[in-house]
Amino acid sequence: MKKIAILCSGNGTNAEHIYDFFANGNRVKVELVIYDRPEAPVAERMRARDVDTLFLPAEVWTDRPDEVVTLLLQRGIDLVVLAGFLRHVPATVTRAFAGRILNIHPSLLPAYSGKGMYGRRVHEAVIAAGETRSGATVHYVTEELDSGEILMQEVVEVLPGDTPESLEERVHRAEYSLYPRAIVAALGRLATPPVPPVAPAPEQATESEQPAESPAGSATPPPIPSPGEEWADALGVKYDPTKLPPEYPGAVPPPPAQSAARQAPYEPQQPAYAAPQQPGSPATPGVAPGAPNQAMPPMPSSYLVWAVLMTVLCCLPAGVVAIIYSSRVSSRYYANDYEGAHRASEMAQIWIIVSFVIGVLVQSLYIPITLLF
Ligand code: GAR
Repeated sequence: MKKIAILCSGNGTNAEHIYDFFANGNRVKVELVIYDRPEAPVAERMRARDVDTLFLPAEVWTDRPDEVVTLLLQRGIDLVVLAGFLRHVPATVTRAFAGRILNIHPSLLPAYSGKGMYGRRVHEAVIAAGETRSGATVHYVTEELDSGEILMQEVVEVLPGDTPESLEERVHRAEYSLYPRAIVAALGRLATPPVPPVAPAPEQATESEQPAESPAGSATPPPIPSPGEEWADALGVKYDPTKLPPEYPGAVPPPPAQSAARQAPYEPQQPAYAAPQQPGSPATPGVAPGAPNQAMPPMPSSYLVWAVLMTVLCCLPAGVVAIIYSSRVSSRYYANDYEGAHRASEMAQIWIIVSFVIGVLVQSLYIPITLLF
């Protein structure tokens, strides 16, 4: 199950459609919705769908962006999805989640992008310029304004007599089907979960009420998955190229001990803004969400001995009855009691089957039952 976090500043109709699109499947879960304006209607919309919502005020984004990274890592987020998030995403976050942050923009990028171009303003500019086509774009978010790789676009015709409102409505409808498809495509490109940063990079950007796609830096293209990674993703299994035999194409030598040592000590700090526990969602005291599973202890070898012993013991009574009936078959037969020999033979067969069924039941239930106690 891939987990996505949605970032939103306002209405949240895209967030709502994304949730509804994935709600009935088991491949993608909207794990968390983060909003940065206390009055944003998205919070109510998503709470009504029993999704965890979390308000992160401006100072977190500007002064402590590493807490955002920590939170996303703790929640095991695979992909961050900006849906009407009108705040600059700090460089600390875009670097930590390079190739894992998407944004939707209500125009055919690169047209009508940049400072001040967001929401209704885009449609006003499109109408004012007399365009005949507009649309929506899903692109990767990088540090540089609108420069992230375009993942998908959908064209929307501008009709004669269109107003910014009518155009906005049609672009919105296009977005509702475009964004979930783009999310599926972006998740398909991912092979491994994000690696916690070794040390947070110095923050250079400041808060802006402009759309998320802004500051300066270089675009980081998302990783191109290998065929092995694509297969593993399609099959829903964990892919680790370092575990492949060295002669296998695509095998990667295990990382040197030093880099492992650099990553091992990382323990995400508990952010000051722990997500409120939703009614009905299970609390796990002391275990941070997204924490790695503890390794299972190996099964003691005595289990095998006990399983065999229990099977023999439980099958024995029915087996003995079957033997007694079989021994009667020949004695009846030589006593010319053919009817009795036939009945004894049938009973022997029945008890052999009973013994077999008991054996199968004991074999399949013994370990689950012992694990209960
Ligand atoms: C959407 O149209 C989205 O493309 C736009 O804000 C709207 C949010 O609507 N995003 C931007 O302009 C970002 N540059 P919603 O809150 O109802 O989903």
